[in-house]
Amino acid sequence: MSQSSLESDRLARSFAASLLQALGLAAVAAAGVTGCGANVVFGEPGEEGGGGSTSDGGGGFGAGVPTGGGGDGQGGSVVVTCDEPPPEGTLTYACFFKDNGVCPAAESEVTYSELADQLEWDYCDEFCCDSQWISGPPCGPDPAAPNECCYWVPINYESSCMGRPFTVEGTARTAGLIGRDDWACAGAAGDPCASLDAKARALLAQAYAESALMEHASVASFARFILDLLSMGAPASLVRDAQRALADEIRHAELSFGLAARYAGHPVGPTALDVDDAPAGRRDPVRVLADTVREGCVGETVAALLAARAAEVAVDPEVKAALTEIAADEARHAELAWRTVAWALGAGDPALRSAIEEAFATATATAPSAPCADGVDWTVLRAHGQLDAAESRAVVESALRDVVGACRRALTTPAPATISTAASAC
Ligand SMILES: [Fe+2]
Ligand SMILES: [Fe+2]
Repeated sequence: MSQSSLESDRLARSFAASLLQALGLAAVAAAGVTGCGANVVFGEPGEEGGGGSTSDGGGGFGAGVPTGGGGDGQGGSVVVTCDEPPPEGTLTYACFFKDNGVCPAAESEVTYSELADQLEWDYCDEFCCDSQWISGPPCGPDPAAPNECCYWVPINYESSCMGRPFTVEGTARTAGLIGRDDWACAGAAGDPCASLDAKARALLAQAYAESALMEHASVASFARFILDLLSMGAPASLVRDAQRALADEIRHAELSFGLAARYAGHPVGPTALDVDDAPAGRRDPVRVLADTVREGCVGETVAALLAARAAEVAVDPEVKAALTEIAADEARHAELAWRTVAWALGAGDPALRSAIEEAFATATATAPSAPCADGVDWTVLRAHGQLDAAESRAVVESALRDVVGACRRALTTPAPATISTAASAC
């Protein structure tokens, strides 16, 4: 396991523990309800369907799908079997040419690297990203492909924007960028960053400007969420914490615009935000809760862990301080989303429960695209709070597995009365 995966797992498990504690579900987790294992296992010779076990007790996915081990570099005796479909994404089939007439083992670094070259990609427009990545260990090689090394590979694909987006009719909206200095924290703008070359400064300015616009859009998202909570009769603790989260997002936008201005060397701020057609009246609670799962329980959990990891690797003191503050706030926002879902489950409405469960079943998250950094030393970008693609992906995978997976199971298992919704003091 790579160092970045280990660090991501550490952060995710720590976050999951505190979240479960806040929800009053630590005992449920400790009882083993929350186990989330790998979705693909490697069986022993002759064990059709996989000889390992998963947290879900394994499955019979193996029929007709990967078996074999001829030419795997381990004497041809290892049978590799996909145990069950991946929980996210789909299984695809990919091949590369045999180098010396021998195919490497499915779990080897060579296999992963060859397959990643073909299957992993990111494409981003101004604010949103399309990404595809390998979401679990491949199975193979396929013995029916004599001239190439072929494997079944769990693939995840996502087209999305990170954080808590402001969506109108399914599309995330942000403002545009304009030169203004009334959305930047005092003291952040104007630092000449003399040690950075022009390209690094431009990349950092763009990255923080994009983050700032998403933070700015999150203000609108929480404004609407407060109305949603009131319309559903939510307790004061949730409404109060949503109001606090709205104020946090203003602060995050100011911090991020301040950093963008600092690297750009000139003021940066938002244009007016288009709120036309954004529903101001009562929204269907089913829709509200599905959005809360996707944007809060998943999106803000991922955002919190990405910010926490970026804060850890940042060296620049101003960036480190800003990201540390944002990470702590985003963790609270994620907790608010989980508490909101817990409160809704406590109402005992089957329609709400099934909307929540369906939203969890279909929610995915993608790592944000790293800046295109040709000719720029990544050590420098990292020191200024940017994670490369591999590190972002490791964070997202740990967040989905160790936090979303664990908390989802704990949340949907116990009697609703055991769940705490009043985590904030009056
Ligand atoms: Fe934020
Ligand atoms: Fe947030």
